[in-house]
Amino acid sequence: MLLTEDALAPTRAVDPAFRRDIVEGLSRNPKATPPIWFYDRHGSELFEAITDLPEYYPTITETALLQAHGADIATAVGHGRAVVEFGAGSARKTPHLLRAIAPAAYVPIDISGDFLRASSAELAGVFPGLPVIPLVGDFNGQLSLPSAIDAMARLGFFPGSTIGNMEPDAAVDLLRAMRRLLGSDAMLLIGMDRIKDRERLIAAYDDAAGVTAAFNLNLIARINRELEGDIPMDALVHRAIWNDAKARIEMHLEATRSLHFHVAGEPFRMQEGETIHTESSHKYGSRDARLLLRAGGWEPMEAWTDADSLFSLMLAQAG
Ligand code: AVI
Repeated sequence: MLLTEDALAPTRAVDPAFRRDIVEGLSRNPKATPPIWFYDRHGSELFEAITDLPEYYPTITETALLQAHGADIATAVGHGRAVVEFGAGSARKTPHLLRAIAPAAYVPIDISGDFLRASSAELAGVFPGLPVIPLVGDFNGQLSLPSAIDAMARLGFFPGSTIGNMEPDAAVDLLRAMRRLLGSDAMLLIGMDRIKDRERLIAAYDDAAGVTAAFNLNLIARINRELEGDIPMDALVHRAIWNDAKARIEMHLEATRSLHFHVAGEPFRMQEGETIHTESSHKYGSRDARLLLRAGGWEPMEAWTDADSLFSLMLAQAG
């Protein structure tokens, strides 16, 4: 049953926040742009393709954890909660959770209305008795939950280690905002990618088929198209770097020659070898992960991890 409280009409105008973030990011030294702008329609499709890559272990590992531990999760969570998924995207892992815990409602939140509409309709078809109430919005901004779940206890679901794409201070702010949004009797099920050997990490972010490179470069195509940019795409190459001091994979676009280009009417220069830092993906040890949750207002309850300690699913309750 698909219920739409929000207008899901796609917005085609250029988002002023996109213009501001990109112009500001390219004006910085070193240049750095926020990763949320990867996800236009094509970027979301490329990300889906990444999750199917043999090198990209997070999706396959997290899905296996959800399948293997569904009964344990159901016991810990109980029945009748409303599941609120942050950044639902195509929501491919969600059926495993919904099947295991039989929730009272499902509220997927995503910034991409097109994607959300399609995945919500598909899910409503698979779970005909479940109220599915999609909410278009940026979970980093102000949100209010649909009134239909006012009386229900909530389970926040934040899979995929998306929390890792935030700087630690922003991650803590987001966890606190989720705690406020979901209420004092809420629980949170969150995926966190673990620290592991450098080769495995680099391969996951610089795959042999070049899908991650295409995902990274799609940001430039989007800038050129939506912000009247003239960045020469053939002069930027994808780089994935492990920053051990900050426990994170960084994605960059590196200039192969010196460049002069325009975006939104502003001129920019890059030296040969200079990069635009487009994404960080922080990895957390088990203690780091617990500490992060506690700093964000959540008390860790349980953690499920695969045998190779690649990825963890953590359950926490509002602190
Ligand atoms: C969405 N996020 C958790 C992905 C990650 O692994 O950091 C985005 C991604 N970037 C490159 N590959 C996947």
